[in-house]
Amino acid sequence: MSVLITGGCGYIGSQLSYILSDNNINHTIIDNLSTGSKKLKNPKAKLYKIDISKKKKISKIIKEKNIKCVMHLAASILVPESMSYPEKYYKNNVINLIKFLDACVDSKIKYFIFSSTCAVYGDIKKNKIKENDIKSPTSIYGKTKLIGEEIIKYYAKKYNFKFVVLRYFNVIGSDSKLRTGPLKNTGHLFGNIIDSFLKKKMTFNLYGTNYKTPDKTAIRDYIDVEDISKIHLEAYNKIKQTNKSYEFNCGVGNGYSVLEILKTFEKIINKKFNIIKSKPRPGDTEKLVCDNQYTNSVLNLKLKNNLFKSISNAINWKKKVDEK
Ligand SMILES: NC(=O)c1ccc[n+]([C@@H]2O[C@H](COP(=O)([O-])OP(=O)(O)OC[C@H]3O[C@@H](n4cnc5c(N)ncnc54)[C@H](O)[C@@H]3O)[C@@H](O)[C@H]2O)c1
Repeated sequence: MSVLITGGCGYIGSQLSYILSDNNINHTIIDNLSTGSKKLKNPKAKLYKIDISKKKKISKIIKEKNIKCVMHLAASILVPESMSYPEKYYKNNVINLIKFLDACVDSKIKYFIFSSTCAVYGDIKKNKIKENDIKSPTSIYGKTKLIGEEIIKYYAKKYNFKFVVLRYFNVIGSDSKLRTGPLKNTGHLFGNIIDSFLKKKMTFNLYGTNYKTPDKTAIRDYIDVEDISKIHLEAYNKIKQTNKSYEFNCGVGNGYSVLEILKTFEKIINKKFNIIKSKPRPGDTEKLVCDNQYTNSVLNLKLKNNLFKSISNAINWKKKVDEK
């Protein structure tokens, strides 16, 4: 059985592609390279540079390659941008998703694995978030992903395929073998810190300093990009074995505040940052930590935090990119 990865030239999709190759899983990539890059592409995978909305072309590729499982990562992904340009997010994450699903059902795929996000839970006041907790997104990005989940469930029932919804928490790190990683700083915490360090600025914009958390900064659950890829692999095995649909929260089960992350970086690089306190950005929330018991038990995983490894890989990858 062959797999299709959409967004396979992006940060997470390219890592997933390498992990699938490492496990001898034959796959094809579709990516319009809007935020992705050929530089991240796994040389073992064939890339079609097209948009997910191109129903006829995609349907043809799926049939020709005998693809039965789709891992759908292609999306617009930035919370602040989604608040400024909602139409872009509704178009890409909802309308294009529907066009893409039409292509998938036309060519009779059996399994659909969807990259969703903890942003669907919004500003939930819970210590740890379970899969069936209330979903009330505060950002347009989160809303479009939740609508995406609902559309997939509807299509799955109507057209008789199974799905896995993977709600990633904050994805960090880079490939241990430094084959891929983030190319641009998209304004996420790790990118901001590493950029400031490598450009020798050593300043850090701390967004939100008045949250009801022990050090008043926002708390998140950080999961390494290699672990996210392993979850995809196990989800793929599970859906094939059981022919059932699933929803999994994907995090390590403990939270770190922004200040704690910054201090861990400071220890590793042995340098201090000059902190500039700023207001939270639109769509930001106080605390999002994953309850991963269900994911760990069903997929037989033991997800743990290894911040040191994630930070070191991320710095080494960025150094490698900057050297080129
Ligand atoms: N990065 C995170 O921390 C995080 C957290 C939660 C969920 N996610 C989800 O993971 C997925 C991948 O995110 P990422 O961080 O790798 O982002 P990314 O921007 O690096 O990757 C997205 C890829 O999809 C491609 N793409 C976008 N729209 C497309 C379209 N219409 N047609 C074809 N290709 C298109 C882009 O060119 C890019 O290669 C997204 O669905 C995102 O919502 C990411």
